[in-house]
Amino acid sequence: MSHKTWPAEAIWEQVYPLLPNFTVEILPEIDSTNSELMRRARAGQHEPTLLVAERQTAGRGRMGRVWQSQPGDSLTFSLSLPFAPKDWSGLSLAVGLSLAESLHPQVGLKWPNDLWVQERKLGGILVEAASMGGRSQVVVGVGLNIRPRPVEGLNTPPTALAEWQPGISAPQALARVAAPLIQMLLDFETTGFAPLQARFEARDVLKNRRVHTSDGAQGLALGVSQSGALRLQTDAGVLDMHSSEVSVRPFPAEDKP
Ligand code: BTN
Repeated sequence: MSHKTWPAEAIWEQVYPLLPNFTVEILPEIDSTNSELMRRARAGQHEPTLLVAERQTAGRGRMGRVWQSQPGDSLTFSLSLPFAPKDWSGLSLAVGLSLAESLHPQVGLKWPNDLWVQERKLGGILVEAASMGGRSQVVVGVGLNIRPRPVEGLNTPPTALAEWQPGISAPQALARVAAPLIQMLLDFETTGFAPLQARFEARDVLKNRRVHTSDGAQGLALGVSQSGALRLQTDAGVLDMHSSEVSVRPFPAEDKP
């Protein structure tokens, strides 16, 4: 893949008026775009940056998981910018919502921020924050499956954008999602998650389904709150789950737990 195939300049032109000092970087290889932007933030480099890697040698997922991808089969990038919202809650949901809306009406959201199509994972998001000398910086990492590939060790095989948009490439997907995502982050900084609740709900794949969580809770998913918590109707009442350090799975449709 040549660097010329990436829409770096077009994205820069869209975003620069919103974010002075914005830069776009495309790297053939790095350990992890999130790790690199976190290192830079901790070293005091605060310029808003979109960093794309054609290959990651140590891609990271949520909850200490590994994010595996092959060049061309997936789009892997991170975005770093100074960020000072009044309330951070719901941020990762807002990121997922922006991506889903930029990609396709059929892309659903599985709380907190997995992109799902027909019960299969299309992509994931890893949001991290660095705070240095009273300034805070957010690093938003996105991994999107572009072409189908077998993945060992997952009980549900992932899906990929090209399954229903044949021929789409990682650079084309980036061109679709990057500028709207940056606009979403800037809007979130002032207004938070509450105005996005209804739009999230329209794509919420867990709503009205029985789910179980990695920390042992189970119940009926009622939707998300104004602060982005997953609301679960359990035997002990309604539980608002805020932590994204849990994973949630729906019971298969035929199960009656
Ligand atoms: C998840 O589903 O657990 C989140 C996956 C996030 C993967 C992306 S790929 C680009 C960025 N760099 C990383 O190391 N991780 C994120």
